[in-house]
Amino acid sequence: MRTADKTTDAWTHYWRSGHLATCFTGKGTEHDFDARDFWTAFFKGFEDNAVLLDICTGNGAVALLAAETALAEGRKWFVHGADAADIRPHASLRNVPPALRNVRFWPGVEMEKLPFEDGAIDGISGQYALEYTDTARSIPELARVLRVGGRLGLLLHAADGRIVESSRATSQDLKRLFEELHILRAAQAAFSRLYPSAGVSAEREDLKKKHKAVLEDFEARLGELSAWAASDTASEIVEFVAQRLTELYANRDRYHREDIFNFLANLESELRHYRERMKAISHAALTETDVKGIAEAFADHGLLMEQPGHLRNSTGGDFVGWTLYGRRPHGETS
Ligand SMILES: C[S@@+](CC[C@H](N)C(=O)[O-])C[C@H]1O[C@@H](n2cnc3c(N)ncnc32)[C@H](O)[C@@H]1O
Repeated sequence: MRTADKTTDAWTHYWRSGHLATCFTGKGTEHDFDARDFWTAFFKGFEDNAVLLDICTGNGAVALLAAETALAEGRKWFVHGADAADIRPHASLRNVPPALRNVRFWPGVEMEKLPFEDGAIDGISGQYALEYTDTARSIPELARVLRVGGRLGLLLHAADGRIVESSRATSQDLKRLFEELHILRAAQAAFSRLYPSAGVSAEREDLKKKHKAVLEDFEARLGELSAWAASDTASEIVEFVAQRLTELYANRDRYHREDIFNFLANLESELRHYRERMKAISHAALTETDVKGIAEAFADHGLLMEQPGHLRNSTGGDFVGWTLYGRRPHGETS
């Protein structure tokens, strides 16, 4: 059984900064067309007045697909999106897609304790969702709220899938940035010398020498970072940090001291949250045996489960994640 993800703050930070989704496989876009087809096919077929719940919804990428499918099919569904993080999709997203207005969001709701009556839900969707929760508690809870005849659809992280592989590589790069290159610490030290706080004299010879050494150290690290960012092996985050610090250093005379230190503090907080999310993704990765265990646990609570499937990226053929369908058959209870 999976244990709960402890990174709620990092997720809140991510969703509040306005992303529609995470873990997409398409380059330079937040739309993952393979997952989109999977979800559209899952949502089609619900009757009018169906109540749908998207679990661990984030900013509602999948709940949005449910609401859009309803419009396309001329159906009226009640779509809910719940997440443990303090999500505010209607306020956080820069461009709120019109159909998202039809979704009701539930921030601060853990899947281990849902605020819904027994059998209140006709359809449960979860994209990179269940595997972040404490499944020993969330599976019985989801089974409890799923109505007789209701359907469950899950897309789950695969331990040997593309998304997990790239999160692991990014985690390694973040580790190197923080623990080997110490680039932010070096930047802090360098800018503290360039912009000493009031009352610190920059005139003394011994201090001047020290300042020079600190600046040279930062420049050397920045050079190393830029070379790494230009290599084929670096992940996008390395390029991002290299670009931001190079720009800051080159234009340092244009900024106020306070802006520079705020910038560095924000960058550090951003990277630490990013690192936590990458770790959470790796932690949530499932082997085929894990997915079968999840299917069995749902079956123990009265759901009829299909064999796990593979979602592949149609452009590259990459393995994106596991798919898992289930339903609560008529004439059985948990
Ligand atoms: C990888 S994100 C997926 C978000 C969304 N489904 C998507 O595909 O864009 C995982 C989400 O699970 C949420 N989460 C983790 N543990 C949870 C729990 N026990 N109960 C509810 N939400 C949880 C996190 O806050 C995060 O928003």
